[in-house]
Order: sequence, then C-alpha cells, then structure tokens
Amino acid sequence: MAWWDALTPPPHTAPLLDASQAPTLARLHATAFARPWDAHEFERILCERSAFAHGLWRAGILQGFVLSRRAADEAEILTVVIAPGLRGGGHARGLLQRHLDGLVQAGTTRVHLEVDEGNTPALKVYRRLGFQQVGERTGYYAKADGSRATALTMSVVL
Ligand SMILES: CC(C)(COP(=O)(O)OP(=O)(O)OC[C@H]1O[C@@H](n2cnc3c(N)ncnc32)[C@H](O)[C@@H]1OP(=O)(O)O)[C@@H](O)C(=O)NCCC(=O)NCCS
Repeated sequence: MAWWDALTPPPHTAPLLDASQAPTLARLHATAFARPWDAHEFERILCERSAFAHGLWRAGILQGFVLSRRAADEAEILTVVIAPGLRGGGHARGLLQRHLDGLVQAGTTRVHLEVDEGNTPALKVYRRLGFQQVGERTGYYAKADGSRATALTMSVVL
C-alpha cells in the first residue's frame, strides 16, 4: 500500500440517483470492455424508471458502479465495473451486496446476469454471492482480438 493510501478514506457504496454520472460511468466502462457503452447510453438507461444503480466512491470520486434494470419482481444486472486501480481489492463483493440488499427492499426476488466464462474474478464474486449458472450462450461476446467468448447466464433467488 502506498503511503498516500493511508491518508485516503476507504471506499464506500451509495445509490446513484441521477444521470449526471453518465460520463464517468462511460469512462469506467471503457476501462473494462472491448465494446464500451457511451455516455448517452448510460444517460438513457439511468433515466429509465426501472434503472437501479449503486456507486463505489472514494474521496468524492466515483471508482466503480453496478447498474441493474428491474421488471416486476425480477432484475438483471447490466454491468458492474471497479476502477482498474482498485481491482483485486475485494470491493466488488460489498458493492454488489449493498445493491442486492437494495433490490430486496425494492421487492425483487430473483436477479439475473451474464458473464464471460473466462472472467474468473467476476465469477468468483458472483458465486460467493449465491449466483448459480442457469445456461450458456456460445460465442455471445465479441472480444477485442476479433474472437468470440461464451457467456454464462446466472441467477440468484434473494
Ligand atoms: C470483476 C470485478 C468487478 C471484480 O471486482 P474486484 O473488486 O476486483 O473483485 P475482488 O478483488 O473481490 O476479486 C474477486 C476474486 O477474484 C480473484 N481475482 C482477482 N483478480 C484475479 C485474476 N486476475 N485471476 C484470478 N483470480 C482473480 C480475487 O482473488 C478474488 O478471489 P477470492 O474471492 O477467492 O478472494 C472487477 O475485476 C472489474 O471491474 N473487472 C472489469 C469489469 C468486469 O469484468 N465486470 C464484470 C462483468 S460481468
């Protein structure tokens, strides 16, 4: 840990309330995915009544987020990203747990998601939170090198 890390408060999770963070979400998303969503796409989703999101904040700066869409008593996690400098620090689990707790309070009973079968950190986090594989989609994701990757579909009953 660098000395300045000791002076910086630990990250905390809070709901994302409006679309003003859309440009930051797009920047974070672009650090992780071969086909990033732009700020307009995030703004559009965040303006939907069904959108549900939490951010991971550190020293007033958004360092990660999880974004879901709710429908009746189910929800789908659309994306989750932790800033590159904080990955591997165990922050995703707390962020997602707080998000799932919020979904329960909003009446959600089942949550779905898709994940690249090769994304070991994400799979570990999801499995620890109780998600189980329910299917797979061969060649679902386009990768930066032009190849395609299989998506696993997972869900959890809350
Ligand atoms: C996936 C992601 C959200 C996980 O968040 P995180 O806070 O970095 O996760 P953690 O630090 O808790 O790591 C999760 C687990 O993966 C392990 N891990 C981390 N990096 C790893 C790597 N490169 N290879 C193998 N395992 C790894 C950790 O040791 C931990 O295992 P443990 O629970 O047994 O201790 C984050 O890495 C990220 O933003 N990735 C880019 C975006 C992405 O892939 N989102 C998910 C799309 S579905």
